Amino acid sequence: MTNPILDQLNNHRSIRQFTDVALTDTEISTLVDAAQHAPTSTFSQQYSIISVTDAETIQALASITGHAWMKNSGHYFIMVADQYRNLQITKSAGRDTALLHSTDKFLASVFDAAIATENIVVAAESLGLGSTIMGSILNNAGKVIALLNLPELTFPLLGIAVGHPAGMPDLKPRMPQSMMHFTDTYNLPDDFAAQLTAYDDELTAYYQQRDSHTKQENFSHHLARELSRDLNVRADLATLVKQQGFKLE
Ligand SMILES: Cc1cc2nc3c(=O)[nH]c(=O)nc-3n(C[C@H](O)[C@H](O)[C@H](O)COP(=O)(O)O)c2cc1C
Repeated sequence: MTNPILDQLNNHRSIRQFTDVALTDTEISTLVDAAQHAPTSTFSQQYSIISVTDAETIQALASITGHAWMKNSGHYFIMVADQYRNLQITKSAGRDTALLHSTDKFLASVFDAAIATENIVVAAESLGLGSTIMGSILNNAGKVIALLNLPELTFPLLGIAVGHPAGMPDLKPRMPQSMMHFTDTYNLPDDFAAQLTAYDDELTAYYQQRDSHTKQENFSHHLARELSRDLNVRADLATLVKQQGFKLE
C-alpha cells in the first residue's frame, strides 16, 4: 500500500548536514504543535520541550554529544521527561503527589516525550526539513540537567537537531519483517541465522555504496561495536534519575 504519509515515513533518513538557514518562529511553533498533538499517556502531557538557543549551551551540548555538526542545525530541541509541572498542579489541588515519583510515571513521561519526538521528526520532514534525534545528550546527563536548570521530577531524554538538509543520505535498509514481527508469541524464524547473514550482506552493500562515509560494516559488527563501548559511559543514569526524584523501585 502507498500514500503520501506512508511514502514519507518509509523514506525517513536522519540528517546530520544542514544549510545555515535557521528555522523560523513559525516553523518552530508548528513543530511544537505537532509534538503536542501526539498521544499522551493518561492525558497527562508529562514532558516539556526546551529550545536551546544560547551559543554556549549549544557548544556544551556539542561537546557532550561529540556531534560538532549539531552547531550547524537550524534549531535544537531537548525533550524532557516532566512530572514537575504536574507536581505543581497536583499540590495546588491539595492531592497526594506520591505517585508522580513512581517508576510508572517516569516511564509514562519517557513514552510521552519519545512519541512527541517522533512527531517532531515527521512534521519536520513534511516541511522539507531534516532532523537527527540525539540520545547522546545522556553521555553527561548531569551536566545537561545543570545547563538547563532542570527541577525535580524532570529528566533530559533526547536532543533533536532540526534544519534544512544540505544533503540527502541513502536510505538505511531495515531488517526483514520476519526477523522482528511475530504472531501471538515471540518466535524468531528457524532460519534466523541465514536471514541475518542476508541482512548483513545487504547492509555491507549499503555501507559500501552510499554516497558519504563508506565503510566496511554490517549489522552484526555494528551491534558488537556498539556493545564494546566503555561500560562506565552513562553508568550514572539510574543514580541521576533517582536524584531527580523518581524512585525507580
Ligand atoms: C533514541 C534515539 C537516539 C539517537 N541518538 C543519536 C545520536 O546521539 N547521534 C546520532 O547521530 N544519531 C542518533 N540517532 C539516530 C540513529 O542513529 C538513526 O536513526 C539510525 O542510525 C537509523 O538511521 P536513519 O534514521 O537515517 O534511518 C538516534 C535515534 C534514536 C531513535
